[in-house]
Amino acid sequence: MSKKLYVVGVGPGSPLYLTDIAKEVIRKCHYIMGYKYTLKTIETFIDKSRQKVSEITLWNQEVVYLDIYKKMKNNEYCAVPFTGDASFSESEVVDRLLEIFGDDNVEILPGISSIQVAAAKTKVPLDKAYIATFHVTGDIEKKKKELIHAVNEGKSVILLPRPWSGDLTKRFMESDVAMFLKKNGIKTSALNTFVFEYLTNKEKETAFKGKVSELEGQEFSDLSVMVIDQTKRQTYLEFEETR
Ligand SMILES: C[S@@+](CC[C@H](N)C(=O)[O-])C[C@H]1O[C@@H](n2cnc3c(N)ncnc32)[C@H](O)[C@@H]1O
Repeated sequence: MSKKLYVVGVGPGSPLYLTDIAKEVIRKCHYIMGYKYTLKTIETFIDKSRQKVSEITLWNQEVVYLDIYKKMKNNEYCAVPFTGDASFSESEVVDRLLEIFGDDNVEILPGISSIQVAAAKTKVPLDKAYIATFHVTGDIEKKKKELIHAVNEGKSVILLPRPWSGDLTKRFMESDVAMFLKKNGIKTSALNTFVFEYLTNKEKETAFKGKVSELEGQEFSDLSVMVIDQTKRQTYLEFEETR
């Protein structure tokens, strides 16, 4: 058997949102490599006397991934924990891990995404909303156009904003989203919005509820989710005759 990698979604931050299978896999792995925030989420399931834990940063990740891959013996397991769900807004890293380990040696375990928690809190159905992440390194102009289209179509939106240290023109945080929509002819004073920071963290979680126009000039944490709520509820009773 070859070296096996588990890509594990560990939820938005609280261990209460960690699945049993994620805990089981984390416990059995010989190597664990992850960002500080995700390592903290799973710390009570790690045994440093038996498992080799490597902290990843944006700057060292390539070196660490290759180094651990080289050190691993056949039949050994490694876990890389990701915030929320590993299949949402993580592909820049997950795709690289698939390249290093090879698709057949990687298993992805789903987790609860920050997007799902925000959907649950606002009661916005995921299947009727435009869901987008702006938390990417590549170009976001096409997605910005899709955002305008979705809002104009009357869809609800759940989005991850884009923090960017250094070049402020690359940032697309809540305030930037509000100004962008207004500039594109959307009446933001009539649009309902929520912003959640530090979801699932009992001590730090915050919730803002208001109009999109009120977000202009407001600062939110990098760890935040924005929802634009245009949901029109529609129950099965409306479709009764067609059954
Ligand atoms: C690289 S993306 C990862 C998203 C993650 N895979 C998910 O499914 O939630 C990082 C962004 O997710 C959002 N996020 C993750 N955890 C969060 C939390 N606990 N509260 C609010 N936003 C969170 C923030 O927008 C953060 O900047």
